[in-house]
Amino acid sequence: MDIKKIFENNKTWVAEKLGNDPNYFKNLSKGQKPQILYIGCSDSRVTAEELMGVGPGDVFVHRNIANMVSSMDLSAMSVINFSVNHLKVDHIVVCGHYHCGGVKAAMASEDLGLLNPWLRNIRDVYRIHRDELNAIEDEDEKYNRLVELNVEEQCVNVLKTADVQKAYRKRGLTVHGWIFDINSGNIIDLKIDYNKLLEGIREIYHLDD
Ligand code: CO
Repeated sequence: MDIKKIFENNKTWVAEKLGNDPNYFKNLSKGQKPQILYIGCSDSRVTAEELMGVGPGDVFVHRNIANMVSSMDLSAMSVINFSVNHLKVDHIVVCGHYHCGGVKAAMASEDLGLLNPWLRNIRDVYRIHRDELNAIEDEDEKYNRLVELNVEEQCVNVLKTADVQKAYRKRGLTVHGWIFDINSGNIIDLKIDYNKLLEGIREIYHLDD
C-alpha cells in the first residue's frame, strides 16, 4: 500500500464527517466518554471499531499480540486502571479470534527470541487446560479451543485486578469474552459466567476489601 494513499483516504474521511456534521471534530475534541474497554489482538484482520460498527469516542481500545492481559505488562495494566477508574467504563471486552498467529506460535515448540516470554503466557493457558486440550485429536479444533480458553483466562486476569474487583462491587462493571470468527465475520459471545468466575478466583485473588 502506498503510504500517500493514507493521506488521501484521510482527506476523504474528514470531508465525509464534516459533510454530515460541520461540528463533528469540534465535538470530538471536547472529550471522551466511552462505555466499553476493548482488549483485542493486534492482527490486521481484527479491526476493533469496524467489526463492532462503532465510531470515534465509542470504545477505549488496547491491542497486543494474542489479546493478552499480563500483570507484568505496564501498558495493559495502565489501560485497565485508566479506563476503569477515570473513564468509568461499564464493560470490559476481551476479544480473541480464530486463526490467531500468536496462539499458533505458542502451540509450536520453537525458540522465537524476544517473543518467548510473551508466548509463554499462552503456553501457561495450555498447561492449565492441558487435559481438555490433549483430549482433542483434531489439530484445528484444538487450535480453536485454545483461542477460546485463552480469552477466558485473559478475562480471569482482568478480574484479578483490584480496580476491576472494586468497580464490580461499586457499580456492576462486567467482563465479556468474545471470539471474532474470521471465517464468517461474526462475533461469538463465549457467555462467560462472570459471577461464578469471580467467586471462584476470589479465594486467592480477592483485593477489594
Ligand atoms: Co491474533
